[in-house]
Amino acid sequence: MDHFLYRDGQLHAEDVPVAEIAAAVGTPFYVYSSATLLRHFRLFDEALHGMPHMVCYAMKALSNQAVLTLLAKAGAGMDVVSVGEYLRAKAAGVPGDRIVFSGVGKTREEMRVALEGGIRQFNVESEPEMEALNEVALSLGTVAPITVRVNPDVDAKTHAKIATGKSENKFGIPISRAREVYAHAASLPGLKVIGIDVHIGSQLTQLEPYRLAYQKVAELTEALRADGHQIDRLDLGGGLGIPYERSNTAPPLPVEYGALIKETVGHLGCEIEIEPGRLIAGNAGLLVSRVIYVKQGEDRQFLIIDGAMNDLIRPAMYDAHHDIVPVVEAAPGAEPATYDIVGPICESGDTFAKGRTLTELAEGDLIAFRSAGAYGAVMSSEYNSRLLVPEVLVQGDQFAVIRPRPTFDEMIGRDTIPEWL
Ligand code: LLP
Repeated sequence: MDHFLYRDGQLHAEDVPVAEIAAAVGTPFYVYSSATLLRHFRLFDEALHGMPHMVCYAMKALSNQAVLTLLAKAGAGMDVVSVGEYLRAKAAGVPGDRIVFSGVGKTREEMRVALEGGIRQFNVESEPEMEALNEVALSLGTVAPITVRVNPDVDAKTHAKIATGKSENKFGIPISRAREVYAHAASLPGLKVIGIDVHIGSQLTQLEPYRLAYQKVAELTEALRADGHQIDRLDLGGGLGIPYERSNTAPPLPVEYGALIKETVGHLGCEIEIEPGRLIAGNAGLLVSRVIYVKQGEDRQFLIIDGAMNDLIRPAMYDAHHDIVPVVEAAPGAEPATYDIVGPICESGDTFAKGRTLTELAEGDLIAFRSAGAYGAVMSSEYNSRLLVPEVLVQGDQFAVIRPRPTFDEMIGRDTIPEWL
């Protein structure tokens, strides 16, 4: 569920007409609903009710400071994967003991910053990383709390580029070697083992892969405890999918996911962490764009819009589907029209949808990409020297620009010309 609905034939973001934001900000832009962000965060929080837990928002999905501040005030912890994300979380007021540090290639410098600034735990992904963290912690006279990310070798049944839980993926250590790796970790004085971490992929639309993975984690917990390790915390990762295509996808709900967690690991008495990103932010955001031209091709019509693959790369990168809707609702009985919806960038990959049926549209009309809140703005770039797309946050009947569109002078002025040129 989200808060982008038609009222009197006009698409609204909560109580604000999307066209009003377009008039004030220009297009393209992202707009996020505070109510949807908070609703999704709370669904997870409630799904784990009755178990000690922390929902650590995977901020890679959408990391604008205003969004982080909103979620932090609601009590979210954060899952970070770089020192940049760590500093963003801190700047949004998240205390170090609510930040978990994930990622397959943390540098010593990143470890140092997090240890000095405070950290809930590092999710360690390899033995060399373990050695490095041990050294950094000892050099600072401290001890780093860790989980080890295990790779359970289960098929998440998702897009190959976002599956992480098979043995062929670069993530975690093979679960078959976990006892040996934990024994090594326990021998390093700069580390304190506190739990286990697992994350099997993103945009999961079935619970079964989670069941398999969490059962393996439960078995491992017992085995590691028998080996004398203190396993008090299980970080179960993120990845729960969202309905990108409303007409035909219905991924499991957070409440069903929560029930599965209780069923598979609830008896262990561990504190549970989860790291959802997409489900919190995805359907909380639209990308709004304007039609530049309607072009008649040989056998099709192209809708050429002012948003492009640099603003939303998911269709080009993962063949991802986003529902696309007109900002002015089609009149009842209006003729449908079918378009290839494309951006202005000079490559064929700059195609958002082929043969998409909408209502008839004309130059100047506004359209909105649904489910664009997660992995939208954060993956945008300036390719073709297009300005970074601005972001807007809505709450009730108010909206605010939370990242302005830069000026061309700012973009050009960031480059420097060597004096010898
Ligand atoms: N935890 C870890 C360790 C992760 O690597 C990820 C996502 C998450 C949590 C959050 O997963 P989520 O709940 O958002 O599915 N750019 C791609 C998605 C990449 C996901 C990477 N890792 C896309 O646009 O689909």
